[in-house]
Amino acid sequence: MVISFNSIKGGVGKSTMATTFAAWLASKGQDVLLVDGDDQETASDFTAWREQTLGQTGYTLVNMTGANLRKQVEAMKPKYDHIIIDTGGRDTTSQRAALIVADVSMIPFAPRSFDLWTINKVITLIDEIQSIRSNPLKIYTFLSRADIKSADNREVAEALSSFPELTYLPYPISNRKAFSNTAGIGLAVFEAEQPDLKAVAEIENLFNHVLYGNHATTSA
Ligand SMILES: Nc1ncnc2c1ncn2[C@@H]1O[C@H](COP(=O)(O)OP(=O)(O)OP(=O)(O)O)[C@@H](O)[C@H]1O
Ligand SMILES: [Mg+2]
Repeated sequence: MVISFNSIKGGVGKSTMATTFAAWLASKGQDVLLVDGDDQETASDFTAWREQTLGQTGYTLVNMTGANLRKQVEAMKPKYDHIIIDTGGRDTTSQRAALIVADVSMIPFAPRSFDLWTINKVITLIDEIQSIRSNPLKIYTFLSRADIKSADNREVAEALSSFPELTYLPYPISNRKAFSNTAGIGLAVFEAEQPDLKAVAEIENLFNHVLYGNHATTSA
């Protein structure tokens, strides 16, 4: 499956979730390609730190930006079990190429920085992408960097659920130090020496749903 992390707002957790998903799939024995489609190269930096920390990465990393991304991902698709694409937080050629080539798009929304302007722009972009695709793109939204207890989460979840173009997944990823601390040394949250089990449950619920449908294994 080709899974792309997209947003037109920066800093919402795309790279954190894309690298975590790649490491998680690799830990399950899957052959994974991680595509860094952002010229900020966050996923590449993560992978370099990972190599230093672990001596290996467990997945293959490539950098691809611009319109090329589409053709190259199409060519690589038969060679991997899964391809994860990390994109930058703007409406760029790479972002559009990823949305066209992917099977699934995952769009994180950080509740505190949520605004209607963002969602309206996302819907406009999605409508445009869907109109040029031969098969519809499955689009999942989820809360990212969410407050552990906050009314904001509920309001944003309700707003996201109201758009028929998007499938809101009720598996929020909370704002937890464990995510940033592990990412800083190239590890995914489940790979820490003493993993934050709540953080691990959150990513497993989300990823299991994306891969297998409604079969979350653990409750957060
Ligand atoms: N769930 C989380 N809990 C705590 N910190 C997080 C979480 N997700 C991301 N962060 C931190 O927030 C910052 C932005 O995250 P990240 O780089 O993943 O966002 P992004 O959407 O890829 O940003 P950009 O649009 O610039 O590519 C990073 O410092 C990261 O460590
Ligand atoms: Mg990023």
